[in-house]
Amino acid sequence: MGPDPAPVHIPVLGQEVVALLGGRAPSLRTSGWIVDGTLGAGGHTALLLQALPEVRVFGTDQDPEILEIARKNLQAFGDRVRIERSRLSQLAHWMRELRRERPIGWLMDVGASSLQLDRPSRGFSFQNDGPLDMRMDPSREVSASDIVNTWSEQDLADLFFTEGDEHRSRPIAAAICAARQRVPFKRTGALASLIADTVGGTGRLHPATKVFQALRRAVNQEGAELEAGLTAARDALAHDGVLAVISFHSGEDQVVKRFLSEGARAGEWEVLTKKPAQAQYAEVRQNPRARSAKLRAARRLRGASAGSGPASGTEGGERA
Ligand SMILES: C[S@@+](CC[C@H](N)C(=O)[O-])C[C@H]1O[C@@H](n2cnc3c(N)ncnc32)[C@H](O)[C@@H]1O
Repeated sequence: MGPDPAPVHIPVLGQEVVALLGGRAPSLRTSGWIVDGTLGAGGHTALLLQALPEVRVFGTDQDPEILEIARKNLQAFGDRVRIERSRLSQLAHWMRELRRERPIGWLMDVGASSLQLDRPSRGFSFQNDGPLDMRMDPSREVSASDIVNTWSEQDLADLFFTEGDEHRSRPIAAAICAARQRVPFKRTGALASLIADTVGGTGRLHPATKVFQALRRAVNQEGAELEAGLTAARDALAHDGVLAVISFHSGEDQVVKRFLSEGARAGEWEVLTKKPAQAQYAEVRQNPRARSAKLRAARRLRGASAGSGPASGTEGGERA
């Protein structure tokens, strides 16, 4: 097999993110620092730093390989950006550790990057054979092959149904459990072929798409990570600070919607996107993955409880 494809990642809904976090509304602040909790290759952060000269960014990601790309891509911004490796679920800890003034913005563009999905060596791809891995953070102990080779048939079927919306979850789980008795699954190609042989193709999606999505979500504990990131944002953001979340999965979008609407009823947020922002035709043509992206944003309300965020003063605090 040849080398992995060259790294390319186009930030989704870039202008919309800048407009929301940059504060078109006069009450929103445009100086201070922003947390980008899913830095990826740094696409959104670069747009924010270009558009908002008074802003600095604390950028984190759990994937060390991607952080190397971000470091190169963002070098020109010097000390306006600080990059650290972190999971979303560790950001609350970082906020206490840094003891900075509260952030004015918080971005999460959750899910996987095309830099991960398109590299067979990372094991996310059903189209190009690679190790059955799918860990965004290589220090996680459980990979996709561990799940496929050790979970019970019932647990696999439930996973494929709940996390992948896969309605043929039972025959797929049964076929996996029968096949793994002969040879354990180690490669994405073998799993994708088995799924295709079991259920066949029924439309424009590859028959393995939903099972691979479910496995990726389980390996990276994406549901729990998103919840932790939302809570950390609520506790850390400055009053008038803006939270923006891009999700690619309908279940995730519902989690964000519910979190913000419940928070709005409790007086914690003003929702800025009554309907989620979605990519226009021109963006989808350039970047087909933008098709399923949904962006929701909300402003942290003045008078909301401070939570367990960072120090609220600026004196003596380290700046981003
Ligand atoms: C869609 S990409 C982000 C792309 C980025 N906004 C850009 O413009 O380049 C998602 C990134 O989030 C990271 N990620 C996903 N879940 C995470 C989590 N729970 N903690 C930290 N990083 C996470 C992935 O490693 C990936 O690099």
